[in-house]
Amino acid sequence: MIDFKKELAKIIFSDDLGLSVEEIENMIELPTDKSMGDYAFPCFRLAKTLRKAPPLIAKSIVERIKDNEMFQDVKQVNAYVNMFLNKEIIVKETINTVLDKGADFGKSNIGEGKPVIVEYSSPNIAKPFHIGHIRSTVIGNSLYKIYDAVGYDVTRINHLGDYGTQFGKMIVSYRHWGNEADVKADPIKTLLEYYTKFHIEVENDPSLDTEAREVFTKLEKKEKAEVELWQWFREESLKEFNRVYEMLGVEFDSYKGESFYSDSMPRFLKELRDKNLMVESQGAQIVDLEEYGMNPALITKSDGSTLYVTRDIAAAVYRKERYDFAKNIYVVASQQNLHFQQWKKVLELMGYEWVKDCIHVPFGLVSLEEGTMSTRHGRVVFLEDVLNKAVDQTREVIKEKGVTTDDIEETAKMVGIGAVVFQELSNSRIKDYVFSWDKVLTFDGETGPYVQYTHARASSLMRKAGEEAVKRAESKDIEYKYLKSESAYVLSKEIYALPKVVLEAAEKYEPSIVTRQVINIAQAFNRFYHDEHILVKNEEEKVAKLALVIAAKTAIRNGLDLLGMKAPEKM
Ligand code: ARG
Repeated sequence: MIDFKKELAKIIFSDDLGLSVEEIENMIELPTDKSMGDYAFPCFRLAKTLRKAPPLIAKSIVERIKDNEMFQDVKQVNAYVNMFLNKEIIVKETINTVLDKGADFGKSNIGEGKPVIVEYSSPNIAKPFHIGHIRSTVIGNSLYKIYDAVGYDVTRINHLGDYGTQFGKMIVSYRHWGNEADVKADPIKTLLEYYTKFHIEVENDPSLDTEAREVFTKLEKKEKAEVELWQWFREESLKEFNRVYEMLGVEFDSYKGESFYSDSMPRFLKELRDKNLMVESQGAQIVDLEEYGMNPALITKSDGSTLYVTRDIAAAVYRKERYDFAKNIYVVASQQNLHFQQWKKVLELMGYEWVKDCIHVPFGLVSLEEGTMSTRHGRVVFLEDVLNKAVDQTREVIKEKGVTTDDIEETAKMVGIGAVVFQELSNSRIKDYVFSWDKVLTFDGETGPYVQYTHARASSLMRKAGEEAVKRAESKDIEYKYLKSESAYVLSKEIYALPKVVLEAAEKYEPSIVTRQVINIAQAFNRFYHDEHILVKNEEEKVAKLALVIAAKTAIRNGLDLLGMKAPEKM
């Protein structure tokens, strides 16, 4: 790919300016107002060296470079050299690059194979996998793909919430009010009922709390009866989670959750003690963080059982030892900001300098139009139900529209689930948002179905153009004079921006930047489609336009893939 800024810097360079190519490159700006050119070079800094007024300097630079083939036009405006690129070069460079790279267009290698961990989803066992979990799952999956695309070696971890005092509660309620047959018939919903019942009953009978704590201690001591029940709950839960992961096309390399770290608790308790970080407070062990303006980190309860943060400390050290990560990314709701701040501080106080490479990537809340969710009160919307509903509704829309597809079921899945995923990744992740069916499933506006439909439209053009024309376009046997329109140029620029956008998304841990660009490409494509007649009689012209169609389709497909979405050929 051509690095246009660098090329322009080379053209502007001349000995008497007293600036290196690199310095010039850094000074070149991208005007937001496109009537000021694609790039602009400010001359203020040169006034001293050249002992001339900046506008005069700009003028002489314009005179010197204006005939270069890189430019459509070069203008002096005040102290600026405003450069308008030769549109044909951009169009040509875009088509050549995308057709050469194919599925690799958008990728790069700044990661140089360095190990990165992305932890995401991490639901709690024996609790519903509800709509609130979708954010971590979908954002994490996309970040994995983005980091993979920019050349890192990514390990995907599902840090299951499969340990803690809530399992004491779950076991107690199962023993008091549960039965095996019900759990087997509908595991999570039944377990949720038990859990809800526990919280109702405990109001009248506080001894249940004591009982639950005792049971959890037994679990920590690995007593057979408790371990067996726990394992059973875990297995049943995983079955349900996996059904959802399959629907979303999400995978993990490791399911090591909180329970995995229970055996290493003594090691860390000792280490915290040895490093003089732990103090007793009302029977509990804590790390005092007052100095840093935070509440204390609770390491063990008064009964000696360990806590969430303790297991997160162990998990971070384990990951460093096992993977030697360059970055360890946690995609977890912003409600846990304080937890991650405390955890980071404790690791820092323990002397682990790599804690700077541990990154909490927070995101805002999803709420439903009907009101907020609460596991304790049993008011939840299961993610699986949401995805199924999306598929059902999409199937109806497809039938109504009389969409041409060979496999309605498959298309309904791609589009229905894709719509939910796309909505998740549309806003910057930190924003809270309200899940709305009306917004998710429309085929117009900035939605998943709109982008997928655009992709299918490009595929349809290729089919209609015929194999021969597609082959010629793909071999880049193209006469660029047919691609001089403004819409062809704008589309090319949007496509060409994809690799930079992917890098930016990785740097900011922000998939919505990719979502935005995919929308930009789709919109630019539809403008091109609207303005131009693509399947014209003139074979040369058809092939040229088709090449740009193929480039757009490839870019959209690659972009959707980074979001964890499929790109249907027909819709
Ligand atoms: N299981 C937790 C929850 O559902 C999320 C775990 C986040 N990851 C972590 N390493 N603490 O709230």
